[in-house]
Amino acid sequence: MTTLAIDHVSKNFGGVSAVSDISMQVPAGRITGLIGPNGAGKTTLINLITGILTVSGGSIRFGTQDLTRAPAHMVARAGITRTFQNIRLLAEASVVDNVMIGFYRRETTSTFASLLGLPAARGETGTLRARALTLLERFGMAHLAEHEAGGLAYGHQRRVETMRALASDPALILLDEPVAGMNDIEAGELGQIFAGLARDGMGVLLIEHNVRFVTSLCHHIYVLDSGRMIASGTPAEVVSNPAVIAAYLGT
Ligand SMILES: Nc1ncnc2c1ncn2[C@@H]1O[C@H](COP(=O)(O)OP(=O)(O)OP(=O)(O)O)[C@@H](O)[C@H]1O
Ligand SMILES: [Mg+2]
Repeated sequence: MTTLAIDHVSKNFGGVSAVSDISMQVPAGRITGLIGPNGAGKTTLINLITGILTVSGGSIRFGTQDLTRAPAHMVARAGITRTFQNIRLLAEASVVDNVMIGFYRRETTSTFASLLGLPAARGETGTLRARALTLLERFGMAHLAEHEAGGLAYGHQRRVETMRALASDPALILLDEPVAGMNDIEAGELGQIFAGLARDGMGVLLIEHNVRFVTSLCHHIYVLDSGRMIASGTPAEVVSNPAVIAAYLGT
């Protein structure tokens, strides 16, 4: 069971401090929440963890591995994956092909050789396609497998974004507002899927603005505001914390 440990991490852009002295832990087998107002530094933290950005200070470890300055491909190889707040799909490719792209983070044959069905890759592609279809079933989207991803309703595009991240069979998934724009029923369905991933042993970091959704799913919640950690604790502790109430209601 591998824990992500973020220790006194900071990130400055020029003179601006986007993330300041943040420490947090994301254990396996649980959903950990990360909330905070717009511009709090949540996405920046994911970019730091995944090697898209480099920390200005502090350290990032995943179990025994030091990922502090690891490039994105090494973070992926360590079993950490993420979704993007701004959905990144190949709009003209099918749903199942978009999900399959996620597999190649851990496969040896090149993505495009495989997707183009070059001979060496054909056997592998058939297996991955079957695995992608299993994921689609889990997300209730098997009937949309051959649809163009760009033509899907927004909530369905978000599901594809999440499935693509899951396709690499990660040990830890970082979800950047995965239910943004969904109604309560759609969000609740995805919440049950996230809970199932955690039950199966995956670590889950959930960034989300819907406080009710986060508190219903998480064991532990961290709260950022203007790059600083203003609170952390159980859902009950966090929602009754005066600093959190002030950050959200602007008192
Ligand atoms: N590449 C960058 N260059 C300069 N400033 C940046 C960069 N990325 C983020 N910032 C700044 O860092 C701060 C934190 O932004 P971030 O996107 O991490 O917030 P967030 O908590 O994800 O907000 P939201 O809820 O709106 O997604 C903001 O002030 C933002 O403008
Ligand atoms: Mg963000």
